[in-house]
Amino acid sequence: MNDQSLPESELARLLDRAREAAQHAYAPYSGFRVGAALRLTNGEIVTGANVENVSFGLTICAERTALVQAVSQFGPEIRVEAVAIANLNSVASPPCGACRQVLSEFILPDAPVIFPSSGGNRTMKFLDLLPLAYEMKLK
Ligand code: THU
Repeated sequence: MNDQSLPESELARLLDRAREAAQHAYAPYSGFRVGAALRLTNGEIVTGANVENVSFGLTICAERTALVQAVSQFGPEIRVEAVAIANLNSVASPPCGACRQVLSEFILPDAPVIFPSSGGNRTMKFLDLLPLAYEMKLK
C-alpha cells in the first residue's frame, strides 16, 4: 500500500491506462504526448489525452480531458479517488495548475496523484498539490 491507501497494484494499473491514453494524444505543436487516468469511487476508470489546437490557448490537457469525460459519462456526482499521469516523452510532467484547480471540484483531498517526476514516478496526495484551491463563497 502507498500512504494514500490504494494498493500499489491499482496505481500501477492506472498508470498503464494513462500510458495507453497518451497514445491517442493530438500534439502536433509541442510533440508532448500526455495521458491521464482517473479512478472513480464507483470503480470506473476514465482516461484522457491532451488535444492541442493551432490557437495554442485552446489546447486541453490530458487531465482535464479525462475529467470532462468522467463527468459527461457518469454525471456530476462522481468523485475521483486516484489519478495517474504519463507521457511518452520520458520527462517530468506534474499536472499543471489549471488542471489541479479543475480536478479540485471532483477529487477526494487525500486522493493519490502519481506523475512522472525527475528520477521516476512520484506520488503525492491531491491536497499537497493544491492546498488552497479557489472557491467562490458569495455572501
Ligand atoms: N499538458 C497536459 O496534457 N497536461 C499537463 O498537466 C501539462 C501540459 C499538455 C498540454 C500541451 O498539449 C502539452 O502538454 C505541452 O504543454
